[in-house]
Amino acid sequence: MSDPLSSPEFLRNPYPFYDELRATAPVSRVATGSGSRSGYLVTGYAEAKAAFTDPRLSKDTARFFAGRTSGRDLHPAVARTMLATDPPEHTRLRRLVTKAFTTGAVTRLRPYIQHTVGHLLDALPENGEADLVTGLAVPLPVTVICRMLGVPETDRSQVRIWSNDLFAAGQPQRIDAASHAVAGYMADLIEAKRRAPDDSLLHDLITVREEGEQLSEDELVSLAVLLLVAGHETTTNFIGNAVLALLQHPALLNDARSDPARIDSMLDELLRYDSPVGIATFRYSTEATALGDTEIPAGVPVLISPAAANRDPTRYLAPGRPDADRDARGHLAFGHGMHRCLGAPLALAEAEIALRALLTRFPGLRLAVPPGELRWRRTRLMRGLESLPVFTR
Ligand code: HEM
Repeated sequence: MSDPLSSPEFLRNPYPFYDELRATAPVSRVATGSGSRSGYLVTGYAEAKAAFTDPRLSKDTARFFAGRTSGRDLHPAVARTMLATDPPEHTRLRRLVTKAFTTGAVTRLRPYIQHTVGHLLDALPENGEADLVTGLAVPLPVTVICRMLGVPETDRSQVRIWSNDLFAAGQPQRIDAASHAVAGYMADLIEAKRRAPDDSLLHDLITVREEGEQLSEDELVSLAVLLLVAGHETTTNFIGNAVLALLQHPALLNDARSDPARIDSMLDELLRYDSPVGIATFRYSTEATALGDTEIPAGVPVLISPAAANRDPTRYLAPGRPDADRDARGHLAFGHGMHRCLGAPLALAEAEIALRALLTRFPGLRLAVPPGELRWRRTRLMRGLESLPVFTR
């Protein structure tokens, strides 16, 4: 079985493939690795929503891969995060983190996000060509999460490098080395926060208690790394994809420009239209599972595609067209169910502030290359641009 999810056409534009698959079977058997392994890909909206909450689909990656030698040396804190656990372990971790990672904490961060966006936009030329991926979409999320966690400013460029290395698609050794470096760094930082408490999220996580429960040292390191990693490339892709959608759809752009307050209500539609996460994180069937009309055998990977589900025509009318007036709140870009994105309020705040400032500062912003020449990241899990060249006037 060839791997259609790795073809250059798919990486450039996955939607025709998703549409074809969904029309045939919203839960389809596909090759999931280098051709030797197969699993099931969920592209229908109703099926994806059901899959996200089906307790027979486990996120316990370690159990699935136990005994399968991979030759990898990923640090356990990175390999086994909250996102790779099932209840009751997940329930306990999630409850503790949710107590620290509150909407209030995000609201308090807004002035810092505004300041950071302003600083990044200041560095772009007033009248020339710029790349909005390297100039805005990449540095913003990592700078903000470092501040939220309480990573000292002097260490942020190093943390940014490790964080980037963790996404080095096709370079497992680089990823493994970065996982050890960043886990070691977070362990030291936790120790430092214990000695000198501050108002950071990391310190809140150290002290958080719920019904006599507390996070262990390993859990703290793992959560710190998860927060750093989970919100990084996803938010980068969101900002890039959203700016591109606006620049390619004049009606949408006009709406956003004439009333910047509308950007807030457009965010869900932008997330639905070109979802930053193409395929959600790994799940597998612990027993034979019927999903939609498809019988999934026990012990196989099940890949849920938020990007495909969000373009399901049985859920959204004319899904391939972004529509500022659409109520897109039910989209699955942040997942669904118990693992639904913890950082959604932060990602939304960053995108809203970045888009509003960008469109206000550069009223003549336009694409600097034909859309067909844009380069997309070479990963099937994420949907995001490698660069977004624009003219600022
Ligand atoms: C637009 C940006 C983002 C998108 C599209 C996104 C998407 C997602 C999705 C689809 C999931 C569920 C994965 C699954 O069930 O397989 C998820 C989980 C998660 N996200 Fe996000 N995310 C974004 C930003 C962030 C940010 C900024 C943070 C934190 C700083 C974050 C932290 C997390 C965490 C901790 C989880 C795991 C939750 C759990 O296991 O209970 N995300 N995200």
